[in-house]
Amino acid sequence: VSNDLTAMIAGNELAAKLYHHLLTNTDQGKEALEYLLKRGFTRENIQDFSIGFAPDSWDTLTQFLQRRNVPLNFMEQIGLLSKREFDGKLFDRFRNRVMFPIWNKDGKIIGFGGRVLGNEQPKYLNSSESKLFNKSQILYGLHLARPDIRKKNEAVLFEGYVDVISAWKAGVRNGVATLGTAITNEQAKLIRRNAETVIVCYDSDNAGLKATYRAIQILEENNCFVKVAKLPEGYDPDEFIQKNGSEKFRVEVIGGSMTTMAFKMSYLRKGRNLQNEAERMQYIEDVLTEITTLSKSIERDHYIRQLAEEFSLSLDALKQELFRLHKLKN
Ligand code: CTP
Ligand code: MN
Ligand code: MN
Ligand code: MN
Ligand code: MN
Repeated sequence: VSNDLTAMIAGNELAAKLYHHLLTNTDQGKEALEYLLKRGFTRENIQDFSIGFAPDSWDTLTQFLQRRNVPLNFMEQIGLLSKREFDGKLFDRFRNRVMFPIWNKDGKIIGFGGRVLGNEQPKYLNSSESKLFNKSQILYGLHLARPDIRKKNEAVLFEGYVDVISAWKAGVRNGVATLGTAITNEQAKLIRRNAETVIVCYDSDNAGLKATYRAIQILEENNCFVKVAKLPEGYDPDEFIQKNGSEKFRVEVIGGSMTTMAFKMSYLRKGRNLQNEAERMQYIEDVLTEITTLSKSIERDHYIRQLAEEFSLSLDALKQELFRLHKLKN
């Protein structure tokens, strides 16, 4: 590791200590602490995940780092500080935000995610992309979740830090997150090095369902065995846990994980009226197209039988159609 990176990490570690102290021990952090407790975070979560608070001030962090002789140009490069246009003066980039440290797989702090307390925009602000912080290669929570991931040979994939922490509180301790973005090949490889099975547990909203589709593809390309958590429509994992409790989350959402085919079938059903003949035919065609992508003949057989049964179609007709679609593809 180069000297630059070591200095950047040291700056992040110092900042995290300051933010955590401000959140847990000072009047300045009171409102943020109340916000977190009201959201269902426990004091233990706040310790375990080193959560902090960046106060509503232009220079608290700047001065703190300056006093400790941290090279401030590095702190600007990684996006803890910003530079004022007209005179080049540095100031705190994160203000009035709850701060979530983001670690690399060795447990070193390489960045932060900051969330506003209210409804201001942007809701989340992350450290800047730099040679230290590369979003496409980070899996939030990996250093904490790794023991349980290895033990179970299974990881749960969330969208964000809040979901990882909520799930941790609910007893699901093999969770990691992509930072709001679609999963990348690098991230998929990183998961695969630690576990064979991945349960995708993204938000059950439109964006999340689309991202799930994409995650299935990338994870399967990287030889993961993929399942999809059974999160009712409209929820994200954190909301589900708050509303329905830890046990239901573990048993119904994670325990009730579906095969990717079952997920795709339920996705293809959405917004379609299967009582309508034309829409029903289109649905069957779409499912068959998905079935052509399955490599195992027992799986193809299983889902064809399921379709035949549900829609009272002959197995022969479905198999012929499958054959036609398969030829079209190649
Ligand atoms: N995220 C991010 N950068 C963004 C947007 C989102 O890193 N610009 C990450 C955050 O970790 C966030 C996660 O993606 O927790 C999920 O985003 P979103 O679903 O929009 O967050 P909400 O669930 O709406 O956030 P909250 O529950 O805090 O209101
Ligand atoms: Mn949102
Ligand atoms: Mn969302
Ligand atoms: Mn969400
Ligand atoms: Mn949420």
